[in-house]
Amino acid sequence: MLKPFPFSELHNWYKTHGRNTLPWRDYDFDEKTLGYRVWLAETMLQQTQVERVKDYFKNILEAFPTVEDLAACSYEDFFPYYKWLWYYSRARNMLRAAQIVASDFDWVFPQSTQELRTLAGVWPYTAEAIKAFAHNQSTLSFDTNLEKIFSRYYHGNKFQKLTADEKMQILTDFQKSWISGRDINNALMDYGATVSLNNISWINWDNYPLPSSKFYQTQGQLEPIKEKKKSTFPNKQAHVIAVLHENHKVYFSENTEFRPFYIWKNTWNPRSLVQSYFLEKYGLELSVRPPEVKSYNSKEVPYMVCYCQIQSWSHSFKQFEWLKVRGFEEGYVEEMEFGENSLF
Ligand code: ADE
Repeated sequence: MLKPFPFSELHNWYKTHGRNTLPWRDYDFDEKTLGYRVWLAETMLQQTQVERVKDYFKNILEAFPTVEDLAACSYEDFFPYYKWLWYYSRARNMLRAAQIVASDFDWVFPQSTQELRTLAGVWPYTAEAIKAFAHNQSTLSFDTNLEKIFSRYYHGNKFQKLTADEKMQILTDFQKSWISGRDINNALMDYGATVSLNNISWINWDNYPLPSSKFYQTQGQLEPIKEKKKSTFPNKQAHVIAVLHENHKVYFSENTEFRPFYIWKNTWNPRSLVQSYFLEKYGLELSVRPPEVKSYNSKEVPYMVCYCQIQSWSHSFKQFEWLKVRGFEEGYVEEMEFGENSLF
């Protein structure tokens, strides 16, 4: 059994230290508008920092004030609003999700986890965030930051994963507190931002909120410091994705949707693998740029993206513009990470 988490203390701390000016924290809207705003923000915040999201959130809302506006928009028209956030599959999922809200939920973001999860790009964490922020339900939206907060609080070590039972107990404790779902999830996020979950050397130990935390009481001594390896490339065998192009103006693919060439083989030497693959299979000569590593999950085989300029020109691949190519490359990256809706 865990001791009860001090939700009231956290809530009090939040009342004076919370970031209440974040643009998506205005809840004074009707249910339909609020659902749209919260979903938009949470989708963008999934992998992008708060400061960067602020302007995008405002711009998108200005251009697409309602979920109807977004559902009617094409990927190409939406692209400029999303371009610099880099996660293109999220943009595609957003358009699809808006269309599902239209067709299945009469334009109102639903209330249950099960229904929310039918929306493209709404992962378990996002579903709970929408329930908490849009519908003010009593839930906790466990993402990696929330897990680190509780792992540190109870175990003094953010790397010690919580069990399902522990999470359930934390949620039950919270539900007994009668604090609003909105407040507590915002409070946890602000607490996480204040106590620096990523860099222990930035922690201000003099003003540490929730001093009953095991992490505070052990002054972070239980948490191993993981040195970031400076990557000497390639440091792992990896699969290879080859993106064929002509002067980065025209790109090529075997299929009518743009998909780059995926070579299902682990290698230490992607450049020579790509060269011999295309020579043997298509009789093509390529010059291959050094790869970019795209490894997001230490448990999965990493992969590398190689941009390849075609040197000899007889092939019958279909041509594509840059926009599609970047979209698919980035889309692939994100979908690999989540292991769902894989394009390959
Ligand atoms: N990160 C994810 N959701 C957030 C939110 N609602 N406020 C601040 N940071 C967040």
